[in-house]
Formats: sequence, structure tokens, C-alpha cells
Amino acid sequence: MIYIRNAAQVVTMAGPNDKPRTGAGMSELGLIENGGIVLEGETIAFVGPDEEARRYVEASGREYEVIDASGKLVAPGLVDPHTHVVFAGSREKELNMRLQGATYMEIMNAGGGIHSSTARTREASEEQLVIETRKRLDRFLEHGVTTIEAKSGYGLRLEDELKQLRVARRLNEEHPVDLVSTFMGAHAVPKEYKADPDAYVKLVTDVMIPAVAAEGLAEYCDVFCEEGVFTPEQSRVVLEAGKRWGLKPKIHADEIEPYAGGELAAEIGAVSAEHLLRVSDEGIRAMAEKGVIAVLLPGTAFFLMTKPAEARKMIEAGVPVALSTDRNPGSCPTESLPFVMNLACLTMKMTPAEVLTACTINAAHAIGRAGRIGSLEAGKQADVVVFDAPNYLYLQYHYGVNLVETVVKKGKTVVA
Ligand code: NIG
Ligand code: FE
Repeated sequence: MIYIRNAAQVVTMAGPNDKPRTGAGMSELGLIENGGIVLEGETIAFVGPDEEARRYVEASGREYEVIDASGKLVAPGLVDPHTHVVFAGSREKELNMRLQGATYMEIMNAGGGIHSSTARTREASEEQLVIETRKRLDRFLEHGVTTIEAKSGYGLRLEDELKQLRVARRLNEEHPVDLVSTFMGAHAVPKEYKADPDAYVKLVTDVMIPAVAAEGLAEYCDVFCEEGVFTPEQSRVVLEAGKRWGLKPKIHADEIEPYAGGELAAEIGAVSAEHLLRVSDEGIRAMAEKGVIAVLLPGTAFFLMTKPAEARKMIEAGVPVALSTDRNPGSCPTESLPFVMNLACLTMKMTPAEVLTACTINAAHAIGRAGRIGSLEAGKQADVVVFDAPNYLYLQYHYGVNLVETVVKKGKTVVA
């Protein structure tokens, strides 16, 4: 039982939240000045002006732990809807290579990149992966992130894809951060299938997807639809197979080259299309029409030293936008969603209000959790962050540092 008292400002993201926010709706934060929040068990019992929260607490006659949020900003626990967090090792040497002119794709095609993380992940035991991933989850939590999506895709053979997803399942049970799993066996064509990529696609669709579904190890299916990785046609085959087994489609689309990924996402009814640095105008239009969420990853553009996605164009076209770290060992090795929020604002010109919407309720929609998280409303899960900031604008102004002061997950203080 926690009473968060006297917050300078509370970002509630209060509804209607049945659909992801678009256009002007992305700027409606449901702000309360001098707010109070009462948490009971794992649930939010009351959110409103602090005077009313205090009366609620007094009338209940119960004992509450009090968190004084005077002068502070209170917001929903941040949600990161796109990570590759379960992997072994790191790839700092690639940064040096890229600084000397090698491209991300050249490094991958030469056997580095995803292939090098795949080799390390295949060698690692489940226990080792749990230890490495747990540290990353601790960092997410310290940065105010209380729920993440986690993709497989560094196993690229049945037993190792299952191993990654089992690690995610185990950490979901053991760690305060909630994980939502995505099967991404189609993250790269493994070296042993280089001569026959279609045979690998068949392994993904006929063996891996049924096995993942049988063990209930994932809710979503994703594919790296990219020139030199999986073609739009192969991507469609993978995502359609996922659908038949109850895995909802997501797609890494138009990240490095334009490849009609946005169009494909709309056509197959994907929940989200991710990256979209090079999406076409037609792709944007089709996504807006079908309500496909654009999950944008400006940390990846920053780290790959390339132009970020055209967020303004997407928002103006009516596409719902969410933001994410893309936490992975190659193209975005950070757990700081707040820094990615800074980049969204400063490099893609999203407003501070749009940025918050994109990391709370819209991100929750992208992983099918908007009924439970992503806003501070009575009845929802008690995932709350207190920032050392007097108002929400300040989060994008005092940039590049961690302003998180307190994190409450399912009604328990986990960072203080
Ligand atoms: O989203 N684009 C494909 N996958 C990741 C990078 C994975 C890696 O480099 O290890 C991404 O950027
Ligand atoms: Fe990714």
C-alpha cells in the first residue's frame, strides 16, 4: 500500500485508451497539477488531486507507505515495445570498424553482426544468458522501464531459439520487469543455410513456429524484412505461418533500404512495423489506414550514424507512433529509454508530450497490454515512476542523464 503524495505534476495518460493515440491525441497527457496516487496491492486505487487522494487515504483508515513527490513528476512506468535483450556477449569492436567506414550490412555479410552474437548465444548456457540478461533488466528498471518486449533471433536453430525464449519466460517470472516475448527466428539467415535461404524459411515456418507455439513461448512473430536478409515475400510467408499458430505479426521494416515493409505490414495486418527509417509515403499512408503502430528507434539511427525516421510525417499522416530502445548488441546497446526519448525529441522533432505518449500508452498498445499498463488510472497495474523533474517538459530539456528517482512495479518500490 503506497500513497504518492503531492506530485508537482502527474502524467496520467487517462483514456479513452481503447485505441493507440494518433495526431493531436498524442499530445493529451491527462495532466494533474499537485496530484496524488494511491496504490493498493498490485493495482492503482486512486489518481487525482492530492487533497482528494489524502482524504481517500484518511477515510480508509489503513497504513500506507508514503512517497513524497513534492516538486517531482510522476508518470506511468515506461514501456519498451522492441528489444533483443536476450543474447550473450557484446560487439564494441564493430563500432570501431564502422567509424573507419564499414557499414552495418557489410559487417554482417562478412560473418560479424547478428552472426557473431548468434555464435556467442548458441555457446551460452541458459543460466549464463539469464545472468547477462538480468543485468540489462536491472538497468532498464533504473531508467524507469517497467515492461519490455523481448525478441529471440540469436539462436537461429530450434534449440537455441527456444533457449532464448525460455530465458525471457524465466526472467519474466523472476525479475520485476515484465517481458512480452516475440519469436524472431527470421532475424538472419544462419551461415549454414546461406546457400539455401528458402530452406531456412521453411525451417522457421514448419518447425520453429509450431514448437514455439506448442510451448506457449511467444505472443508475437517478427521478421527482418531487409535487402539481403529476408525478402518481402519470405517475410510474408513467415508472418502468415506465425498467424496460423496464433502469433501476432510484427515486422522490422525499411530499416536500411526502402523495401516496401510498411506496405507489407499494412497488408498482412501487422500490429506494428518497426524502424521505418526509409519507409515510403505509400507505406505511411497504408499504415495510417490500417492503424499499424510505427515503433521508432532513434537510438539505432544515432548509433548507426544515419538519418532517423520521419516521425513528424508519420504523426501528421495519422500513424500511431511508439518509441523503443531496440536494445541489442549491434545497432543500439543501451537500456536508457529516457535517452532515446531525448533523441526522439531532438533528432526527430517529436514534442515532449508526443514522446511520453509514445513510451507509455502507445507502447503498451504495441505489445497488447494497453488494458493493464501505459496509463495511471484506477484499476490499472501499479507501475509508476517518479522523476526528479518539476514537469514533463523538463524530461527532454535536462537530457542524457537519468532523472528517475523512484520506480514502483506492481505496487512495490523496486528503485528508490
Ligand atoms: O533491430 N535489424 C535487425 N536487428 C537488430 C540489430 C541486431 C544486431 O545487430 O545484433 C535491429 O537493429
Ligand atoms: Fe530490432
